[in-house]
Amino acid sequence: PMKQRLLVVANRLPVSAVRKGEDSWSLEISAGGLVSALLGVKDVDARWIGWAGVNVPDEVGQRALTKALAEKRCIPVFLDEEIVHLYYNGYCNNMLWPLFHYIGLPQEDRLATTRSFQSQFDAYKRANQMFADVVNKHYQEGDVVWCHDYHLMFLPKCLKEHNSNMKVGWFLHTPFPSSEIHRTLPSRSDLLRSVLAADLVGFHTYDYARHFVSACTRILGLEGTPEGVEDQGRLTRVAAFPIGIDADRFKRALELPAVKEHIHELRNRFKGRKVMLGVDRLDMIKGIPQKILAFEKFLEENPIWRGKVVLLQIAVPTRTDVPEYQKLTSQVHEIVGRINGRFGTLTAVPIHHLIDVSCLLMNAISLQDRSLDFHALCALYAVTGDYVALVTSLRDGMNLVSYEFVACQGQTKGVLILSEFAGAAQSLGAGALLVNPWNITEVATSIEYALNMTPDEREKRHRHNYAHVTTHTAQDWAETFVRYCELNDTVVEAQL
Ligand code: UDP
Ligand code: G6P
Repeated sequence: PMKQRLLVVANRLPVSAVRKGEDSWSLEISAGGLVSALLGVKDVDARWIGWAGVNVPDEVGQRALTKALAEKRCIPVFLDEEIVHLYYNGYCNNMLWPLFHYIGLPQEDRLATTRSFQSQFDAYKRANQMFADVVNKHYQEGDVVWCHDYHLMFLPKCLKEHNSNMKVGWFLHTPFPSSEIHRTLPSRSDLLRSVLAADLVGFHTYDYARHFVSACTRILGLEGTPEGVEDQGRLTRVAAFPIGIDADRFKRALELPAVKEHIHELRNRFKGRKVMLGVDRLDMIKGIPQKILAFEKFLEENPIWRGKVVLLQIAVPTRTDVPEYQKLTSQVHEIVGRINGRFGTLTAVPIHHLIDVSCLLMNAISLQDRSLDFHALCALYAVTGDYVALVTSLRDGMNLVSYEFVACQGQTKGVLILSEFAGAAQSLGAGALLVNPWNITEVATSIEYALNMTPDEREKRHRHNYAHVTTHTAQDWAETFVRYCELNDTVVEAQL
């Protein structure tokens, strides 16, 4: 177990708050890979610092929420509406997120973004300083401060300026793009320099780390070494730390009576049909329209499968104040509607598009509770003998859904169709069917192949994936990162 005291700083706290009254709050588990992974880290003395996902303008509310969060070892950073608009919706999710995933904005939007760049970037820096202020307040000597993700690229610099002895690590949960992409950002140098203030900089894959180092070389003119990036004798270590999941948590859940009941219910519900599963936040990086179009192509070309297969697509609403996400939502609804009209019958439609896992289950959590119902999700991953999971991300830092699906295939050995553009393709490549999500003909063919795969091949492929997912845990990931961060050799003699 890690004895090291850890301050984990991320924009999104593991729990999001919903206001119930003037001074009463309820807390829900937040969605997304970052939170899932951090929740899988057990043996650690950590405090979490971040945003609870709500605007709390009044002091009574802030005090009550701070108290409620303290029970979960969480410490809130309060961001007002304007900051959230410019920093979170604007700079983070309309600028950095698409860019880091190689997703271009339409020309008009790109221009609008360019125009509002300065105010958004200022807000980004201000927000990062607000996180730093909270860290400084709670920091004790000897703590490791672990900063997460693209929201907080300025944080290492803010922290080190205040206290140069602080051990600071920064980890990116998204891809880091080619330096040719990063180059287009007006803030390209500032962002790199502030990240480099950290002692250790981590990425999911070796490619992302390499992209980061070459961005520092080409844009800042610094020297890249096998260890990291050097600036006037000071070394910032850069390395790949592929994340994992807590596979045991999933295995244990599958043994619970409630989950078994869910599984039973789902089996009955889709009796006689093979199920294809997608679980994503409703995000453009996930390639949901591409996935659905590939499924249409499959139905088009394989009439004998019509009525015998169903695509369950869970698409959890996310970042709904960002216009691009709103556009995506209506686009997906439109495509689903068209295809269901085309291939649906009186008794069955080919695509179920749901915003929440629990929508499928009669006796699951109440519908007002839109957060992840972990048990329902496990049941869904596990439910049938003829499962195929479809992960078609156009780009994805790692993609934990693919890992979770694998962890839940005990008896069933479901097939994973996985985008070659997800970080997970590097670890599950031998077991999954890798596809280019942009090539819907290829994806359609893979669907057919997966549905007809011999038990023998399924078994073999599954064994590969399962071995990886069960041996590369979130706990290992965190321990390795923190151990590296503590290493005391980050200041080296300049090599002459
Ligand atoms: N998840 C969730 N709520 C849901 C469905 C899924 O929180 O309704 C979880 C899922 O179990 C997984 C995470 O969200 O752990 C998604 O992580 P991933 O790395 O696949 O993608 P991200 O959302 O981080 O882009
Ligand atoms: C991705 C990001 C996380 C983020 C999550 C959910 O996994 O890497 O930093 O928390 O998506 O997005 P949200 O904007 O709701 O926090």
